[in-house]
Amino acid sequence: MLLEKIETLLQEVGSLTAKNADEVEQLRLKYLSKKGEINALMADFRNVAADQKKNIGIKINELKQAATDKINSLRECLTQVETQTDDLDLTRTAYPIPLGARHPLTIVKNEIIDIFQRMGFVLADGPEIDNDKHVFTMLNFAADHPARDMQDTFFIEQSNPDDVTKNILLRSHTSGDQSHFMETHKPPFRILCPGRVYRNEAISARAHCFFHQVEGLYVDKNVSFTDLKQVLLTFAREMFGPETKIRLRPSYFPFTEPSAEMDISCHICGGEGCGFCKHTGWVEILGCGMVDPNVLEACGIDSNEYTGYAFGMGVERITNLKYRVSDLRMFSENDTRFLNEFVSAH
Ligand code: PHE
Repeated sequence: MLLEKIETLLQEVGSLTAKNADEVEQLRLKYLSKKGEINALMADFRNVAADQKKNIGIKINELKQAATDKINSLRECLTQVETQTDDLDLTRTAYPIPLGARHPLTIVKNEIIDIFQRMGFVLADGPEIDNDKHVFTMLNFAADHPARDMQDTFFIEQSNPDDVTKNILLRSHTSGDQSHFMETHKPPFRILCPGRVYRNEAISARAHCFFHQVEGLYVDKNVSFTDLKQVLLTFAREMFGPETKIRLRPSYFPFTEPSAEMDISCHICGGEGCGFCKHTGWVEILGCGMVDPNVLEACGIDSNEYTGYAFGMGVERITNLKYRVSDLRMFSENDTRFLNEFVSAH
């Protein structure tokens, strides 16, 4: 009789289930507590004949062990399920988060970098908050030279108004990266300096207080203006199409001599003349020139041994030409209607 009861209980215990911690506790009370089923068997056990005690004792122990194991494992399963449900973040939006597009300026900047990297240029960068020495003085801007006014610079700290070399400023061109680089590297080098620059201009459709540049510098023995012209022609054709022509007009920059502005044939009318190129057939895209020997010397490079060329362009300008963005302010307004137009661009 007792053996049968134990067998039934063993089966019962084997098929126990529980949905939550309360139910597990109920089962524990039912089988394993002082007033539980298994303890109740002990009362019967006392009346068992002596020769069967051992056998039945073993069985009861087996049942007790089985019930303990089962209840523990039910409890463990429940904790696992609970932690799994904890990972469910019910505060997350039910809708998929739409993927954005690359910013048009990033698309064009990457394209410019890609073209010059294929011609052997490597990236170099410098600080956006720089000092007068690297942004102007080392680049041949004399302390009282009116050329300093060419770029309306944001000066941050004028620790000594009489000593411009101590002034902290927001860089007005990435040419400063080039003086940092030249100071610490020996030629030959071909570097490309992309980055954000700042100028104190009233914000309008055509001007902003910050914009982006990519400037390039090549210093080696026997670098000539011909090299510069060929590299820029290759760039213009890669960027605006193989039919593109270039035109160099004499210009002035303190850090290059001779200096030039480069125009490309208007890629909208093919040079015929249209509203976009103001009926000239040409649009200006960058400044360039041979590095002034004074700049090389200021950076510790022997100008009798080395020559170099430099160029600099505005990424906004190139982007406007490529995508005809009519208002500069759109680049920094974060209006997703504008930005989404570039989803398929790259
Ligand atoms: N640094 C010049 C500017 O910001 C551009 C430039 C770079 C011109 C290199 C000539 C050579 O306007």
